[in-house]
Amino acid sequence: MTETLTIKTTKTEHSRFAETDFANLPFGKVFTDHMFVADYEDGVWKNLELVPYGPIEMSPAISALHYGQAIFEGLKAYRQPNGDVSVFRADKNFARFNKSATRMAMPTIPEEVFMQGLEALINLDKNWVPDAEDYALYIRPVMFATDPYMGVRPSATYKFVILTTPTGPYFSKPLKVKIESHFTRGADGGVGAAKTAGNYALSMFPTAAAQAEGYDQLIWTDSKEHLYVEESGAANLVFVMDGKVVTPEVRETILDGVTRDTVLTLAKSLGYEVEERRISIQEVLENIENGRLTEAFAVGTAATITQIAEIGYEGKLYTLTDPATRTVSVAIAKKLNDIRFGAAADEFGWNWVI
Ligand code: PLP
Ligand code: COI
Repeated sequence: MTETLTIKTTKTEHSRFAETDFANLPFGKVFTDHMFVADYEDGVWKNLELVPYGPIEMSPAISALHYGQAIFEGLKAYRQPNGDVSVFRADKNFARFNKSATRMAMPTIPEEVFMQGLEALINLDKNWVPDAEDYALYIRPVMFATDPYMGVRPSATYKFVILTTPTGPYFSKPLKVKIESHFTRGADGGVGAAKTAGNYALSMFPTAAAQAEGYDQLIWTDSKEHLYVEESGAANLVFVMDGKVVTPEVRETILDGVTRDTVLTLAKSLGYEVEERRISIQEVLENIENGRLTEAFAVGTAATITQIAEIGYEGKLYTLTDPATRTVSVAIAKKLNDIRFGAAADEFGWNWVI
């Protein structure tokens, strides 16, 4: 049996709950009253605490700031019809967190620290879980290197923090995306599969350039030839071609998304044929033009299922089918939401009711 850890709790003296406007929740800006913190020192995780959300005092020399040893996760908790709160597929995010940690030469975190810290935080701030369609509590575990040392080597000390933020979907409308044919997100042998800070840092300049041209997001392509589509900036990609649900295969260059796995599982259970394989830019563009590509959407925890309306490539804009007419992604999204929000049976055992 897993031991029950001692988590010291210091409650806030001033809850911000009453002054929070739950009808206006931009992604990731409103934090709940508390956060979970733990320290890695002398080879063990210690100082497990729930404390009021707020600044953490740190040396400006910490290696996370200089050399980027920092990883994170993103998962969500959903309000159930009976008022309970359910966390979706936390085991997958936990496993990916430790996979990212290993790639970045950081210590893994024991399952009981991750899960019990998360459970204690959700229990303490349960009232913050929204109760509205498409709204959820976004959970952000993060670990970063804290050695105040200028030499380049894996830090000996780390901090683990879990933040929670009530939120609606990350994207508010169907996307206009640009296929990136110069800049690279992930290369073979690189860190594309890790959810590490640098992957987001490197995306900002190319994404901002695309946004200046009127796009919302990028579609990253393979680093060798820029001929195959890989993923979007904060979500995986799924297409419907010839009635089949098709997505780029997982490689070491892309994030192995939990929503991607969920969507493929649900697609199969709804009777759709699913293909995970390399998808060339040419195949996507030709199939838009000849009508065989009927749907394209981005899938992620923050993104949920967001329709792609337009794709730009080398100066040409391709308009996809009207998102309002799409059926496959809508059926998958409905089943996904029904399970998450407790309106359908949890047939795959994805919900952890806290
Ligand atoms: N790809 C990237 C780069 C992401 O940041 C995310 C978001 O987490 C995803 C894919 C989707 O992953 P998940 O469904 O696990 O949230
Ligand atoms: C998530 O979906 O959890 C993400 O990490 C996306 C985030 C970078 C906005």
